[in-house]
Amino acid sequence: MLENLSAQPADKILTLITKFKADPRTDKVDLGVGVYKDATGNTPVMRAVKEAERRILADQSTKAYTGLAGDPAFSAVMKDLVLGDSVPNERVAAVATPGGTGAIRQALELIKLATPKATVWLSNPTWPNHPSIIRYLGMKMAEYRYFDNETRGVDFAGLMADLENVAEGDVILLHGCCHNPTGANLTYSQMEQVISLMQQKRAVPFVDIAYQGFGDGLADDAKTTRQIASSFENCLIAASCSKNFGIYRERTGILMAVAKDTDQQALAQQNLAFLNRQNYSFPPDHGARVVTTILQDPALRADWEAELEETRNGMLALRQQLADELKRLTNSDRFGFLAHHRGMFSLLGTTPEMVEKLRVDNGIYMVGDSRMNIAGLNAQTVPILAKAIVEAGI
Ligand code: LMR
Repeated sequence: MLENLSAQPADKILTLITKFKADPRTDKVDLGVGVYKDATGNTPVMRAVKEAERRILADQSTKAYTGLAGDPAFSAVMKDLVLGDSVPNERVAAVATPGGTGAIRQALELIKLATPKATVWLSNPTWPNHPSIIRYLGMKMAEYRYFDNETRGVDFAGLMADLENVAEGDVILLHGCCHNPTGANLTYSQMEQVISLMQQKRAVPFVDIAYQGFGDGLADDAKTTRQIASSFENCLIAASCSKNFGIYRERTGILMAVAKDTDQQALAQQNLAFLNRQNYSFPPDHGARVVTTILQDPALRADWEAELEETRNGMLALRQQLADELKRLTNSDRFGFLAHHRGMFSLLGTTPEMVEKLRVDNGIYMVGDSRMNIAGLNAQTVPILAKAIVEAGI
């Protein structure tokens, strides 16, 4: 049987981890996978997470199953964190999932159940696992322009022109904040225009929000998602706790489906639980319990928010330092976009050959499309990267 298998395409982000580990150079710089690192290169367990885990360890009296949708308390805190009061709770169906990827997968499966002929529209570029899962599920997909390689900002005219081709019932995948891989984001007023167009086309928005709190702050980063949730009868939201709680390996995420009324909500909720049952039965609980413990306790929540703010401000400072250093070296504002981008990533906008040159010559690892993980830098490596970019002639 197994001889019938053929090799699957390697994930271009995860491949980098192996390559980086195998590189013997001591001054190598990892700007690859989207994992936050502090100035010492460590991915810390957040203080509030440690404390929540201590409490769970001390108090938990059972490991019996939760529900197919996960713990309702987790859904409640996540609805509040992501959606605020943009939409009544009774209209939101929700299931805990293994990470944000699990939420995306379940959302796509739900789309397949509801509207198998729908095309899912993706930004070009987007997180490579989006098209990969869609292809794997045999669904239809199309791209809309997103990044302007000249300005390194959003190609808004291109985006609007491409979305003109959306058909009724198609699904449009949008990044809630901190666009991955580009770091370039729509303004709120641009998002208003996208919302109007989607309404006109009778399309269904699907928001992937994996970096809430990494861009402009917890509330501001949720604004786009809330704008969308309050503007449509139906929308899907996949949220990840991997990054903002730093619990990557705990696989903690949630899929929310906004329904038009409570009857539809109940139907969606039943379908989401069914999908969980088919794919992995009960979702993982530990990370969800950690998140719930933190968000329900005012002191823990305040500490988590404070540490998240330190993380966010640290990344903003690195962005500014890199933009300043490149300005000094090039005597131009060509790289000013690095300070304007938001979130963990920026797309440098150079060729795969240049990316490879930086890896070979300087031990600097970034994804082939020139996505850099800003959190992989520190005050010492910023000047090294800036010099390497300039010397490579980028
Ligand atoms: C990334 O984009 O690097 C992260 O979301 C990690 C991943 O799973 O690809």
